[in-house]
Amino acid sequence: MDPVNSFVLAPIGELHLPPDAHPTKGALMRQTSRLAKAGVVVEGGIVSFVGSAAGAISHAPRLDRIDLGKFLVTPGLIDCHTHLSWAGNRADEFVRRSLGETYEQIAAAGGGILASARAMEAIAIEELTASIVARCDLLADLGTTTIESKCSYGLTPEASLKELRAIQDAAAQADQTVVTTYMGAHAIPSGETREQFIKTLLETMIPAASKTSRFNDVFCEEGAFDVEESRTILEAGIRHGMRPKIHSDEFNALGGTEMAVSLGAVSCDHLLQVTESGIRALASGNSVAVTLPGTALYLDKQYADARRLIDSGCAVALGSDFNPGSCQIPSMAFAMGLAVSKMGMTPEEALTAATVNAAAAIDEPSGTLSIGERADICVWPCSHLEEMIYEFAFIRPQMVFVAGERVV
Ligand code: NIG
Ligand code: FE
Repeated sequence: MDPVNSFVLAPIGELHLPPDAHPTKGALMRQTSRLAKAGVVVEGGIVSFVGSAAGAISHAPRLDRIDLGKFLVTPGLIDCHTHLSWAGNRADEFVRRSLGETYEQIAAAGGGILASARAMEAIAIEELTASIVARCDLLADLGTTTIESKCSYGLTPEASLKELRAIQDAAAQADQTVVTTYMGAHAIPSGETREQFIKTLLETMIPAASKTSRFNDVFCEEGAFDVEESRTILEAGIRHGMRPKIHSDEFNALGGTEMAVSLGAVSCDHLLQVTESGIRALASGNSVAVTLPGTALYLDKQYADARRLIDSGCAVALGSDFNPGSCQIPSMAFAMGLAVSKMGMTPEEALTAATVNAAAAIDEPSGTLSIGERADICVWPCSHLEEMIYEFAFIRPQMVFVAGERVV
């Protein structure tokens, strides 16, 4: 009998792998490797061989072999930016935007994030947990093998603890690896002053969240938190062992990207309005530039200039930003298609952005399918990467493996 989670994938029509630098910056992002008649061996959920089909078969002649001669194989896709944990829905806002109101106007009128915060306070933890698990299952079907989820709608100490617990419980049930980012600093709850809320964040919510969250995030934007407030909030996270992340330059360039890079942020996300100085900071610093084209599509905003970010030497990643308000688009393949059609990326850069650079944006060692790495793998029903991108609106993987276990 074969050892658990051990098998040979051979022959593979096209094995397409990103570079293995975590992260890969600038021009190197398109240096992917494309292998025809390839083979991969997985032993005990870990990649033990990558190379030719013949090499794979002779490396492990006794293991079961899966013939993928007509298929594209990539590392599992990594979604480095979601707000998977939400309650209720905001379909009404989608319709209001179609009639002319903007996302910012709806938020200023008490909808938006505050509407989701009210729903978060009301939901029972069991229902919240079940809905997060269901969304993880949906993402597995779409080929996402590692998920970052923010805890971002619980804006009171109680609601935020409930939300953190639900994410932990869901992570234990989900097939994928789930990494938590704390984002109490998403909006100022109604009925509280900004001073009061920031004090509660610093003294109560961030210390509590640091027990289960790897990162601390802030929405640095007009109507949310300014640059100095964002700095204070991120520094508090650092003191509690959480590396910073930031939502910056989404609607207005305030200087949050530059500030977060100077604090050693793991990533700066959105960047629709990123300035030349923000780009320079990202290119010379260690923060990954996370682009979220689904949000630009969903809110009908201009796209982040990924072409310019890459040509300036930044490490660019992709995320879905799947959330109840600004983006109901869960598919990373869809994000890759938008990256190519709307942001000027090549298919190779989109693959790098959705795998190794997305892993770097959440400090995960995976995403390259190299020897010794966890066997997170997608098998796509097409023969080349270009075909996967071209079919972005409907393509779903044929098989998905997480740590060598078939989940789809
Ligand atoms: O990443 N920009 C702020 N936060 C989320 C959306 C939150 C919401 O609208 O619920 C985002 O787009
Ligand atoms: Fe977000």
